[in-house]
Amino acid sequence: MPDSAPTAVSPAIIVLAGATGDLGHRIALALLARGAQVRALVRPGSTAKPATEALRAQGAQLVEVELADEAALAKACVGAACVVSALSGLREVIVGAQTQLLRAAVAAGVPRFIPSDYSIDYTKLPEGSNRNLDLRREFGRRLDQAPIRATSVLNGMFADLLTGQAPVILFKIRRVLYWGSADQPLDFTTIADTAAFTAAAALDPDTPRYLRVAGEVATVRDLQAAATAATGRRFGRLRAGGLWLLHLMIRITRRLAPAKKEVFPPWQGMQYLHNMFTGLPKLAPLDNGRYPELQWTKVREVLASQK
Ligand SMILES: NC(=O)c1ccc[n+]([C@@H]2O[C@H](COP(=O)([O-])OP(=O)(O)OC[C@H]3O[C@@H](n4cnc5c(N)ncnc54)[C@H](OP(=O)(O)O)[C@@H]3O)[C@@H](O)[C@H]2O)c1
Repeated sequence: MPDSAPTAVSPAIIVLAGATGDLGHRIALALLARGAQVRALVRPGSTAKPATEALRAQGAQLVEVELADEAALAKACVGAACVVSALSGLREVIVGAQTQLLRAAVAAGVPRFIPSDYSIDYTKLPEGSNRNLDLRREFGRRLDQAPIRATSVLNGMFADLLTGQAPVILFKIRRVLYWGSADQPLDFTTIADTAAFTAAAALDPDTPRYLRVAGEVATVRDLQAAATAATGRRFGRLRAGGLWLLHLMIRITRRLAPAKKEVFPPWQGMQYLHNMFTGLPKLAPLDNGRYPELQWTKVREVLASQK
């Protein structure tokens, strides 16, 4: 046998929490496509979900564990190169469960952690301007004090929301609804592109504290052009008023329908839009070119699916 016989390099193990979710299962599939070994943490009761079955079929290892069970969590983290969270929830999840996950990662000696941020740049927003993003900042402070290297992926708004949840592109009346300026640049990235980038970042040992990406940076005028191009029908603009009016609407909606236990009640979505229209959480500089093999989906392509 030659002295320098090649030794097989075992694939990196990535522990993933939230793998049954919309973003999480796509991160898992993107990791598997890159040859990683995915250890998906699934809470008891969620193991029979279709997303879980699909992950198992693609080769992910499923570990049934409660995020409150720190010993079992730490065991599940042993040998991992990175722990990725794609959990979604309010304080008990973003601060509580993620802290459990962080402690387990540290106890198991995992070198890197990617929290469930996937948002506009909350580091540039004042405390109190967005409930869900305040929770990410709070967890981020714990993460920064832990002996582990952290990387947050910031992607603006999921472009997929433009065809549904986000009341910006009004297909029925062919208008783009906005507050403030039609020239304010806004960041949009699809869920699939965010997942592909996060998978690449999870396998990249040299990532910085923040990575910022946007599949497309578009103003309201650009959204108008994209909607027109995607549908073949002319879209106009509908300015509802200044940002002060949106702020007032958020306060009224929150008072009338607080929905305190919902992660994304209407007022929270409005708050997100308000933040974006102020320009404060604009992502810059962008790290889109960090993994040259990745392609970015344009807003027009997303809207075309709504034709
Ligand atoms: N930038 C944007 O526009 C935008 C839009 C939407 C979401 N996001 C962000 O993307 C991330 C993922 O969101 P998503 O839409 O993929 O969420 P999702 O589909 O609701 O999935 C949430 C995941 O978290 C898990 N989970 C929730 N509570 C848990 C708990 N207490 N213990 C264990 N697991 C728990 C769920 O597990 P089960 O299957 O067991 O319930 C599921 O796997 C979040 O950070 C979210 O804020 C960003």
